[in-house]
Parts: sequence; C-alpha cells; structure tokens
Amino acid sequence: MKGIVLAGGSGSRLHPATLAVNKQLVPVYDKPMIYYPVSVLMQAGIREILIISTPDYLDNYLAVFGDGAGFGLKMSYAVQPRPEGLAQAFIIGRDFIGDDDVALVLGDNIFFGAGLNDMLARARSRQSGATIFAYAVDDPERYGVVTLDAAGRPLHIVEKPSRPQSRWAVTGLYVYDNRVVDIAAGIKPSARGELEITDVNEVYLRRGELHVECMSRGYTWLDMGTHDSLLEAGEFVRTIQKRQGQLVAGLEEIAFQQGFITLAQLQERGIALDKTDYGRKLLAIAAEHA
Ligand code: G1P
Repeated sequence: MKGIVLAGGSGSRLHPATLAVNKQLVPVYDKPMIYYPVSVLMQAGIREILIISTPDYLDNYLAVFGDGAGFGLKMSYAVQPRPEGLAQAFIIGRDFIGDDDVALVLGDNIFFGAGLNDMLARARSRQSGATIFAYAVDDPERYGVVTLDAAGRPLHIVEKPSRPQSRWAVTGLYVYDNRVVDIAAGIKPSARGELEITDVNEVYLRRGELHVECMSRGYTWLDMGTHDSLLEAGEFVRTIQKRQGQLVAGLEEIAFQQGFITLAQLQERGIALDKTDYGRKLLAIAAEHA
C-alpha cells in the first residue's frame, strides 16, 4: 500500500502566521506539523509516501525529509498548483499509486491513541472498498458527517451539512482500494470548486463498499486549521511528551519499531538532534535496545 500526505491549501485561516510558510511546516510543539500525519502512515506499515504541496514550498519538504532514507522511507513529491480539493490527490498521484491500494492523510490532522495500529491494520487487510475513520465531535457541521445505522453501517455521508444528522465527523484519514484513482477522475467539482473527498466516499457508499471505523473517546483527533486549534495541538503534544515521557510522532522511533531503520541509524539521528528532548529520547530508546 502507498501513502499520500496532502499538504496543500493557502493556509488563509492561519494568516498572518502562514503568509510566508506552508501551514503543514509550522511547528506543533517540537516538530513540523507534517510529522504527525506521516507518523500515522508509518504506523500502518507504509513506506512509500507521496507528499503533495503547493509549488512554492515543495523544496522545504525536501529539506525536512529528503529522499526519506533517514526514516526508512521512500519519499516522492508532487505539486498541487491550486487548492482544488482533496480528491485531486488521486489524480496528481495516479502514477505514484500505480496498481496499489492507497491511504490518504491530511497534512494538518493529528491522530493519537493506543489501538490506532490495530484499526489501521484492519483497514489494510480489507481486500476491497474504502475505509474512513469517524470521530464524535460537538461541531460536526465543520466536517464531512457520516450517519450510521444500528449495526454501524453508513447510511449517508454529507460534506459540511448545515443540519448534521449525527455527531460522527469524518477525519482526514482514508484507505482505498485501487479503484479510487478512476473514481476520483470521474467526479465533478462541488459548489466551492473542489473535487470533494466526500463525493469519492459517496461512490463507495452507494456500492455498499464503504467501511467506517469509529474512533472511541480513547483516541485523540485534532485538526490544526485555526490559531486556537494549532496552539491546543501543541499543548496536547507537550503534555503527553512531558507527562508520559514518550514521543508523539517520533518518526525515527516508529521507523525503528517497524524495522525500517537500524539501531545504528536511530543512534545517529539521536546524536544529530541531541540538543533537544526529541534527540535525547531517541538516544534513550536506542540505549534500551543496544
Ligand atoms: C476536509 C474534508 C472533510 C473532512 C475534513 C477533516 O475538510 O472535506 O470531509 O471532515 O477535511 O479534516 P476541509 O479541511 O477541506 O474543510
């Protein structure tokens, strides 16, 4: 399975903070925002990742990840010239996806919680169809909203409904079989001029092939689209890291656990970052395994 991180958009809701920097590169406590969604793909065992961003900022992502080898990944990069919708990722990423299945994660979403790996493994093991991840929120009208029957099967899915019929927001993590490439190519732009991911999901729903994983309260899902939510996300990460002494989205740690990099690579990266708690934590993990 391949993975795509969509890090496009104008970031206008974070202006003036993002006038000169791509939103998904803004620090969330101690690391660039994009570390968090990348960590989700890595936890799902995905090593081939495409980062899609606006033309101006692609070089900055290259500076963060390079070819990916330091994280045991194979990173590719592509441009989304204008913010024309999440589903455009599958059109831009068509060659990258090839004949494989694909997971898409939005560059401004944080997922955290024990059991995330199992949930992702379940989605990956499905032979066909699509899996979305729903999270109960107080303000569903800001998101795609899915309504479920008593057995947890989706009844309908609507993008930012003015009168939401459920509290289940559709989070920015999606797992698809290869047909998504053709489905995305077939949908039309919405009223806001975007190729909507909700329309892609609707096609799977109509075919009876949309699976919904409901994330319980034990998980945390945050988007970082506003100044307040950005600050809250940073505080959340700091609290967990200080209190529990574990890294949130410690990419080299995950890479080591997944067998993507060696102990020597983990140590090397820890030494390179040893002026920070992040680097010292990597060194501590390496010491435990030495
Ligand atoms: C997008 C999707 C929406 C989803 C949300 C998750 O919204 O269109 O369905 O719930 O991401 O973050 P947007 O960020 O484009 O407003």
